[in-house]
Amino acid sequence: MSVSVPHGGELVNRFNPDYPVRESWKEVELDAIALSDLELIGIGGYSPLTGFMGERDYRSVVDEMRLASGLPWSLPIALPVSRETAEGLSVGEEVKLVKDGEVYGVLQVEETYIPDKAVEAEQVYRTTDRAHPGVDRLWKRGEVYVGGPVQLVKRTRPRFAEYHLDPSQTRETFRRRGWKTIVGFQTRNPVHRAHEYIQKTALEIVDGLFLNPLVGETKSDDIPADVRMESYQVLLDGYYPADRVFLSVFPAAMRYAGPREAIFHALVRKNFGCTHFIVGRDHAGVGDYYGTYDAQHIFSEFKPGELGITPLFFEHSFYCERCGNMATAKTCPCPKEHHVFLSGTKVREMLRNGQRPPATFTRPEVADVLIRGLSKKEPVTTG
Ligand code: ADX
Repeated sequence: MSVSVPHGGELVNRFNPDYPVRESWKEVELDAIALSDLELIGIGGYSPLTGFMGERDYRSVVDEMRLASGLPWSLPIALPVSRETAEGLSVGEEVKLVKDGEVYGVLQVEETYIPDKAVEAEQVYRTTDRAHPGVDRLWKRGEVYVGGPVQLVKRTRPRFAEYHLDPSQTRETFRRRGWKTIVGFQTRNPVHRAHEYIQKTALEIVDGLFLNPLVGETKSDDIPADVRMESYQVLLDGYYPADRVFLSVFPAAMRYAGPREAIFHALVRKNFGCTHFIVGRDHAGVGDYYGTYDAQHIFSEFKPGELGITPLFFEHSFYCERCGNMATAKTCPCPKEHHVFLSGTKVREMLRNGQRPPATFTRPEVADVLIRGLSKKEPVTTG
């Protein structure tokens, strides 16, 4: 029996290393985001998508948060190319999808279209401000979108190979463990005490916790993924029951689209086998573009059951010195001065200066891994 039904009913599999790729086909160069999207389509992470979106799906997603079929879907998964590249393509032909000289996929060109990026920015990111990293990237990418079904013909060589599991493999893992209910946790950060608190609170009501950190492209001041991976490992070893938690990575790029991305994150985790998904404060947010709980409110735009995964909402969590425990405004009566609060920027600054944040904010073992990891490198752009 499967742990959750994939979005749209069936897990897509578009991986075929034996696909007969012809030398003579044109090449379309992918950026890092498009490559991660291609791979996630291929392995079924984005089920029911079988390719890059054509204009009908694209418009419907941008305007209605639904595919043209009516199925909920919140982020456009498009393949942007330059005008020049688009002009060289003919409808019906197959092209090679290439990155750094390697062919990773094949796309059958169904259509090319010019998106209205201002509308996309406003609808998806709720802002057209170029200071928003997702909006800025939207504008920097190609001006024409290509739609059509894809085949993944080659897998990328991931940095944390043992933690890269396809949806079919995570589903099988959950099944083998006998978990019927699984809560997914998205993060682009180290796991601090607030994250741990909401994960464990959720775990009280389900069988297993799927810790699924995003390791695709992130913004340059986020903590690099390799440092984070080591920190997750020490945390799990020290503080989580091994038979109740499973760690593997989510190789997508971060969009910083707040509410829309929360829906996307939930649907994709459903494909990986989750029945529940955690949405806390300012999920996938950046700066102050989104209200603290906008990423929770957006779930009410769908009818119960339509998404096929149950969101678990958590308020802003913190350690209360007076209560002597983790809490939220729902469970703690004390005034703010008793609450341990540090901004992400402040924490990164402390870590880069070799300083441990208080143990009530970050476990010392985690802080030590982060301090060591960050001392070895300057910030990099890929997570
Ligand atoms: S995200 O961009 O990947 O969403 P982050 O790694 O900070 O960012 O958060 C992971 C999850 O934990 C999100 O659901 C977020 O809403 C939640 N979260 C982060 N910090 C807190 C906190 N202090 N209280 C409650 N929820 C939080």
